[in-house]
Amino acid sequence: MKPSLIQLCHLLPETQAALHERYDVTRLELSDDPAAVAGLDAGSIRGVVTGGHLGITNAFADALPALEIVAINGVGFDKVDLPAAKARGVRVSNTPDVLTDDVADLTVGLAIALLRGIVSGDAHVRAGQWPAGERPLATKLSGKRVGIYGLGRIGSAIARRFQSFGCSIAYSGRRPHDVDFQFQESIVALAGDSDILVVAASASPDTHNIVDRAVLEALGPGGVLVNIARGSLVDETALIEALRSGAIAGAALDVFADEPRVPDAFFTLPNTVLTPHIGSATKETRKAMGDLVLANLDAHFAGQPMPTALV
Ligand code: DGY
Repeated sequence: MKPSLIQLCHLLPETQAALHERYDVTRLELSDDPAAVAGLDAGSIRGVVTGGHLGITNAFADALPALEIVAINGVGFDKVDLPAAKARGVRVSNTPDVLTDDVADLTVGLAIALLRGIVSGDAHVRAGQWPAGERPLATKLSGKRVGIYGLGRIGSAIARRFQSFGCSIAYSGRRPHDVDFQFQESIVALAGDSDILVVAASASPDTHNIVDRAVLEALGPGGVLVNIARGSLVDETALIEALRSGAIAGAALDVFADEPRVPDAFFTLPNTVLTPHIGSATKETRKAMGDLVLANLDAHFAGQPMPTALV
């Protein structure tokens, strides 16, 4: 008999087909309401497949007494309570590495789009306004000082890319790494020495709103913020205020605190570039992520070590 799974996130059709071949899959929306699983034989559900930004709540997990594995289709695991999973004997996997290039590529793309006015330039041409006048001059990216908060796999890939633009790299985070880049003890100090501050750390209670008013003031009127990590790392109220007042020059954001809801205030700020959490959203990478989700599930149900186990 195929093991029964609940699927909470969208998957590519080929991943979906492979999942259905090997498992008895029920597609559901994540909910804290135990009634969400009421129509199912909850006691038969052995696995949940979910997205990094969705995770699974403890209430949902509690409604599944036979749960053995939560397979995250994403690198972030901030929406899964790992200690609680461990205590219940539930294993958790994610999909690191395969999405690193995409997220790092997008980071550089966002920085260029913001500094060079690519999005506003596109709107200018489409609106037929070019004959009426030129756009204001933009800001050069090459040679700028880039500060990376969180020099993990993704942060390091971002650093390598900006190096090829002749940028200097500094970083901050939990601890110094064995790298040639300058380590700053605090994110305020990092921001003070950066033209482009990139947020690439994982979300946790320690990093909640780590980019606050003090960090934005240190970044200063010539500085820009790029966030490809999680919205919870940035105090959005302070950011909106800083963007309005000119305390910083601009922000490029792929992630938001309450996504997919985005504060209206961002929509009227011309010094922003906003994207809908597309860091890993390419066909190639989503396929690789799906393959890794399947590999983790298959290994678990075959009694083998999972390729990318978290607990
Ligand atoms: C991830 O992999 O964590 C992405 O941000 C999608 O949630």
